[in-house]
Amino acid sequence: MSSGSDTRELDSLIKELLVLAKGPLAKARVLPRQVYLSEEFLAREEERIFHQEWLCAGREDDIPEVGDFITYQIGRQPIIVVRLSNQSIHAMANVCRHRMMRLVEGRGNAKRFACPYHGWTYRIDGQLISAPHMECTAGFDKKQVTLPTIRCESWGGWIYVTLNSKSESVADRLHALEPVVAKYRMERYVGIFSEDREWNTNWKLLCENFMEGYHLPVAHRSTVGNNFPVQDTIFDSRGAFDGFTYQCFTKPNDLLIGVAHPRNRKLRGDWRRRSVMPTVFPSHMYVLAPDHLWYLSVQPKGPSEVSIRYGVALAPEVFKHHPDVKSFIDEIQELLGRVQEEDRILVEAILKGAQAPLARRGPLSWLEREIHEFIQYLARQLV
Ligand code: FES
Ligand SMILES: [Fe+2]
Repeated sequence: MSSGSDTRELDSLIKELLVLAKGPLAKARVLPRQVYLSEEFLAREEERIFHQEWLCAGREDDIPEVGDFITYQIGRQPIIVVRLSNQSIHAMANVCRHRMMRLVEGRGNAKRFACPYHGWTYRIDGQLISAPHMECTAGFDKKQVTLPTIRCESWGGWIYVTLNSKSESVADRLHALEPVVAKYRMERYVGIFSEDREWNTNWKLLCENFMEGYHLPVAHRSTVGNNFPVQDTIFDSRGAFDGFTYQCFTKPNDLLIGVAHPRNRKLRGDWRRRSVMPTVFPSHMYVLAPDHLWYLSVQPKGPSEVSIRYGVALAPEVFKHHPDVKSFIDEIQELLGRVQEEDRILVEAILKGAQAPLARRGPLSWLEREIHEFIQYLARQLV
């Protein structure tokens, strides 16, 4: 139960958030440190953001065959996302309708889902089909028992899920992003890797770190820093959007990773060397390059712990026609692994910084415009 002083602290943080969100970029500042530490602030985020918004559970090609499934968690709600026999993607609660056991973990292929506790068994669309020894239970009718459906939509090859039955569709929310990413045809990209990780930081510190390119030449100088000429960062001239933000980088000519394959004849001019980095609010972030993409989908586990779904996919022409695709995959995984490790060290250390009693926050640079837009997003959701 929150005390009076906790409530007062939450109110004052929300007030401060509103002031920051209303100011212009030239006066933008970092969020107060307590926003990254407070249990009450996190409870508000869970209620107003993670139980309301579209979250990315993975990619459509994670589950290409009938019965292929992945599990995911929306806040405190475990879910199953499964490919049905009509090829559609279905999401449902991963909680047995008998005594609320979790049905399945991880990912795989299933003909049906059998509860490991007493063996109640569901079709892959969630309909209960058998329940041992329930014949003497008055009024029990297995036809009336299904796993609750979770709203699920695909967009650009991504699978989004939400507990909110009323919000606008993903396509509506992201329609202004569509022309930016459409030229890459990312829905065709072939997944090569996906896994879940946990880091010791606040979810917003990880998102803010991903959004800004300002740190790239310094913090990633031994990996990808030189590939991103941050002084030439391209922002959208249309201004800020409610559901997402993004930036673009055009890379130097002579790179082996991050440029279009010769067989890619759709991308032209600078777009053959350009990467787009969208953040779909609240926490789906990806780097979309002409030859590959990688992504993070992030959720808080506590104020100082974050769950991350991390994956990599290749453009199909790279997958099919690279002279040595296996080495290319190894190389890209190794490189991105090192970049991730650099980021993990940063965002875990920033949390330690925010916990320090003498921590003082500063102003944002023009290269951190997306953080300012993120602050505006948080204010729209939380105030
Ligand atoms: S809890 Fe699933 S069968 Fe009993
Ligand atoms: Fe980084």
